[in-house]
Amino acid sequence: MNQFEYRDGELYCENVRIADLVKQHGTPLWVYSQSKLLQEYQAIRDAFAAVKPVICYSVKANSNLSLLKLLNEAGSSFDVVSGGELFRVKEAGADTTRVVFAGVGKTNAEIEQALLNNILMFNVESEAELESIARVAAKLKRVAPLALRLNPDIDAKTHAKTTTGKKGNKFGMDIEKHNALAAKVLADPNLELRGIHMHLGSPINTTDPYEQAAKKALDVVTELRRQGHQTNWINLGGGFGLNYRGTEAPPASAYADVIIPYIQKAECRLALEPGRSIVGNAAVLISQVIYTKREGGKLFIIQDAAMNDLVRPAMYDSFHSIWPVAPSVPVPKDFEAEVPGCEPADVVGPICESGDYLAKQRWLPAVKTGDLMCTYSAGAYGTAMSSNYNSRPRGAEILVNGSTSRIIRRRETYEDLIAAEKV
Ligand code: LLP
Repeated sequence: MNQFEYRDGELYCENVRIADLVKQHGTPLWVYSQSKLLQEYQAIRDAFAAVKPVICYSVKANSNLSLLKLLNEAGSSFDVVSGGELFRVKEAGADTTRVVFAGVGKTNAEIEQALLNNILMFNVESEAELESIARVAAKLKRVAPLALRLNPDIDAKTHAKTTTGKKGNKFGMDIEKHNALAAKVLADPNLELRGIHMHLGSPINTTDPYEQAAKKALDVVTELRRQGHQTNWINLGGGFGLNYRGTEAPPASAYADVIIPYIQKAECRLALEPGRSIVGNAAVLISQVIYTKREGGKLFIIQDAAMNDLVRPAMYDSFHSIWPVAPSVPVPKDFEAEVPGCEPADVVGPICESGDYLAKQRWLPAVKTGDLMCTYSAGAYGTAMSSNYNSRPRGAEILVNGSTSRIIRRRETYEDLIAAEKV
């Protein structure tokens, strides 16, 4: 089933007409498909069923409370990177004993909050952090469960700003440091080494880096056990690919095929931290054309979604497919190709920066003021990275389930913009 499809020339989300949602809620508008969200979660769960993984949805990809609740009810756990995310997953009803806590800069307050909530594991990124965790655990008279985050020096070939598993990135530690810290953990009664953690980058559209990482994890776990650790978790992080353009991302089963044999051999529990691949294609961003203009030999489509809403194109040169909601030309198979009846255009927002664009030089049908545009694959790192830059209130978020829809975040008002400020 394709949850976002054109029927009689108009875009629908499940059984709801996008234009009807816009009539009710305005633009910019985020529209989510509940069934797509759950389908992608279930695809990962089913693919890895042989090793009964704990799937820790990576909250940073999209932290909307209603989505967290849905995933929690479907059996997902969570990967958090801040006290704020831990607060959110608790609000969503999560069982915190299955939550993992990552990030290079956990504060004492966050460590305490996590320990009091009996999380499954900290993913520890440095010696200084390990010392803080040990201190806080001793103060609370607790044993802190943890995994050391190994930087395996694997090139996952992602964008420079989203690669994390290569030597020289700020994340994790090399194998020598890992082994030295593992010895420290063994000697400290307030620390328990439950597993090993790696996260290679995002998105990774090949399975080979995961196979290399799983193999490394097996070797490390074998060695840790030899040294007397009771290590029985392997956490391979997130980073599974997403189909932004077409079919560039392998299915969950392809990742599972290369990972599972090593997990079975290690006789370990598997934790995963997928974010993008679960929520990325569960939402679109709907905007309205304000003006079009021709300048410098180019056609610009100026619409009301901007880099404050979706910063990915400006920040990473990311590709998002874009097409009108009620197009004069049927949606093409290949959004990058020349399309008959179309013309190349830059799709830009109203913000005062040249980097404020959603797409550049895309073949698009003619549009005019008032027409609606759909930006696809907007569910991951869209709202989560949005801001009020240029004092632009954020748009509403709507969740569609079959023929029904509900608001899961209301549109912000001008009052919201200044609510936290004091004069
Ligand atoms: N685990 C760790 C330790 C991570 O750092 C990340 C993402 C994930 C899991 C989830 O990765 P995912 O499955 O969502 O790929 N803002 C960027 C992506 C930044 C990813 C940061 N870490 C973007 O819009 O492409």
